[in-house]
Amino acid sequence: MATTRGTTNISRTRPGAGTPRGSLAGPPNAVENPLRAGLRLERVPQPATIVIFGATGDLTARKILPALYNLRRVGLLPPESSIVAFARRPLRDDTYRDTVAEALRKHSRTAVEEAHWRDFASSIEYHQGEFGDARAYRALAERLEATDAERGTRGNRLFYLATPPSSYPQIVANLGKVGLSRQGRGAGWSRIVIEKPFGVDLESARELNDTLTHVFDESQVYRIDHYLGKETVRNLLVFRFANGIFEPLWNRRYVDHVQITVAEDLGLDTRGSFYEEAGAVRDILQNHMLQVLSFVAMEPPIEFEADALRDEKVRVLRAIEVDTAPPGIADNVVRGQYARGWVGDREVPGYVEEPEVAPDSTTETFVAVKLEVQNWRWAGVPFYLRTGKRLAKRATEIAIQFNRPPLMLFEGTADPEPNLLALRVQPDEGILLRFAAKVPELGMDVRSVNMDFTYGTSFTAEAPEAYETLLLDAMLGDASLFTRADEVEAAWSAVTPILETWREWDANGGGIPVQPYPAGSWGPPAADQLLHREGRRWRRL
Ligand code: BG6
Repeated sequence: MATTRGTTNISRTRPGAGTPRGSLAGPPNAVENPLRAGLRLERVPQPATIVIFGATGDLTARKILPALYNLRRVGLLPPESSIVAFARRPLRDDTYRDTVAEALRKHSRTAVEEAHWRDFASSIEYHQGEFGDARAYRALAERLEATDAERGTRGNRLFYLATPPSSYPQIVANLGKVGLSRQGRGAGWSRIVIEKPFGVDLESARELNDTLTHVFDESQVYRIDHYLGKETVRNLLVFRFANGIFEPLWNRRYVDHVQITVAEDLGLDTRGSFYEEAGAVRDILQNHMLQVLSFVAMEPPIEFEADALRDEKVRVLRAIEVDTAPPGIADNVVRGQYARGWVGDREVPGYVEEPEVAPDSTTETFVAVKLEVQNWRWAGVPFYLRTGKRLAKRATEIAIQFNRPPLMLFEGTADPEPNLLALRVQPDEGILLRFAAKVPELGMDVRSVNMDFTYGTSFTAEAPEAYETLLLDAMLGDASLFTRADEVEAAWSAVTPILETWREWDANGGGIPVQPYPAGSWGPPAADQLLHREGRRWRRL
């Protein structure tokens, strides 16, 4: 056991030599880097070729390339590895590399160093092709074989789909046709990473799962939700399962309710047409928020391994109940849309004034939901979730509010606030515990005080970006932080009835129209009423 002490390894089943970095035991496809021995228990994946579809897109520039560069920089992407950038535009390798340099300069969390850049740039090739053109895939297959021979990438391939979702089916089918989904028997591994949105409702998610599993085995599919790669979200598991004192309280007997907020002050940027189709439910609630909720509410897995963990998450997702049948939906779900207002000292346009947005759009930029997790641990405990664009500030937080003491002994004093545990996901990452304390005076006045932990002051190391964690895990074959097919479908089952009711209201009139809120506020008044009605209120963030 000694080897796991003082490290970030929290695997119960495989302590000792060869254990993974902070994460979970995966298939035996990682090599130990002897130079790192004694430093940290980090595994280095086997060399591989990473093929990025949609290589000239925004996500590739902002997240994927900086993550790969930073992995390479610290030696977690082996030097033999290569990057093949697949996109439609005709570009030369060196022109593409210039755009990569620009992307890294703008978006890398560390300054780009010349020596690292030269090494990284030399591993990048551009592959021009239409996503639907079979010839481009045959050429890709030949190129990958040549790369294996030249660089020693051993037939290992990671296909990253960073394209609009409408291109997924044709890319998957074409990869299958040229045999690039095959693995095993000395052929190296083949994995596919898929970005959200994964479908637009339950039915389309099922279709997409069928398309994928027609070509790839589920064990090869890595559905990415970058919230699960955030250090503070991963820490939720450590907080719950590596401490003894919280878990006994983590249930309906002690918890009054749970609040999860994902607030953004940003608007749409250049994503008007995407957002028109998505809205807050599809963009954030169905994926990021329900994934976080499943970490909050799940039972301890029997071991810290991908499927054991995901088995527990999917049980939570299946137990979610939102009363969406009219009239219940009116009391349990609030949809809002930002109107013109002020964010900080800047006046910003309303949603329908944004580029690419229809002037009569009913797309929600805010949603608040009350739901329950109907199992023995949580029955009767409300979970309130809210997310929105153009809110007062950027803040993601999970708050567990505990029951009040059964009797207040200290007369003549105002009731203190009930105990609360707030896990700040971003920014100002940390954990706060609120409790009552006596005011140091002669009387017996009681007030609420906070005990506050912040990552910034307790740890000196800078946290990796979520995409670094997730790309590394995908190359290591560790799917714990990726969403399994049944999880995606369970999450869609929970929210699709909401979307259907709204669609019906909008098509046939009636129902509750989308409710405006001024940009820079905390959403429409109905979101506050959702809690006031039950004698509660949102935490002020
Ligand atoms: C993305 C959404 O998945 O998450 C965006 O599509 C949103 O609309 C983003 O802004 C938020 O991510 P983060 O990491 O900034 O909280």
